[in-house]
Amino acid sequence: MYQDEIKEAVRNAYSGISTGGGHPVARRFYSESELAEIPEGSIEWALGVGNPVRYAFLQPGETVLDVGSGGGIDTILAARRVGPLGTAIGLDIVDEMRARGRRHAAAAGVSGWTEFLRGEMEAIPLPDGSVDVVISNGVLNLSARKSRALAEIFRVLRPGGRICLADLTVEGELPPEVANDQSAWSG
Ligand SMILES: C[S@@+](CC[C@H](N)C(=O)[O-])C[C@H]1O[C@@H](n2cnc3c(N)ncnc32)[C@H](O)[C@@H]1O
Repeated sequence: MYQDEIKEAVRNAYSGISTGGGHPVARRFYSESELAEIPEGSIEWALGVGNPVRYAFLQPGETVLDVGSGGGIDTILAARRVGPLGTAIGLDIVDEMRARGRRHAAAAGVSGWTEFLRGEMEAIPLPDGSVDVVISNGVLNLSARKSRALAEIFRVLRPGGRICLADLTVEGELPPEVANDQSAWSG
């Protein structure tokens, strides 16, 4: 498949879904106390594969970017850690996801220092060196241009900035019937 076909398949898949993983997914990766910090809607829309915020050691006042923020579960947890003197930015290509993220951030009371940006991880709409920490959860694997996405993450990080990713990895080669399957790319 061509890169643009993969991007469209992924975008269509995530614009079209009607629910996230909910409590069964969230309980696998987040503690009871972490879940108590976020609104029910963001738990309902959990679609990640880990818990990057737990290992990012976010500090009050930092600027954090959540690449592929979905319903905002990690963006909101990050916003709690950086506090009102910091900034939490969710980035997503799907309009519906950003709208959910905004609703959930408002319900969590962190809207004042949280924003959701429209854009692609392969062309992040932020200036060079503008972010202290990049987190991402289950998103890099969806890119047909992973090196490009990582280069963009590196570009927006300030010197000495940090990255904390939770994602899927592949050892060896994917069989062609998987590598050429649109639903496998999105799923
Ligand atoms: C598996 S979900 C994970 C969502 C969220 N990180 C979480 O843990 O619940 C993947 C998210 O990445 C977004 N996404 C997919 N391709 C993207 C791209 N090229 N740039 C930015 N976001 C993208 C999707 O719209 C979706 O919201």
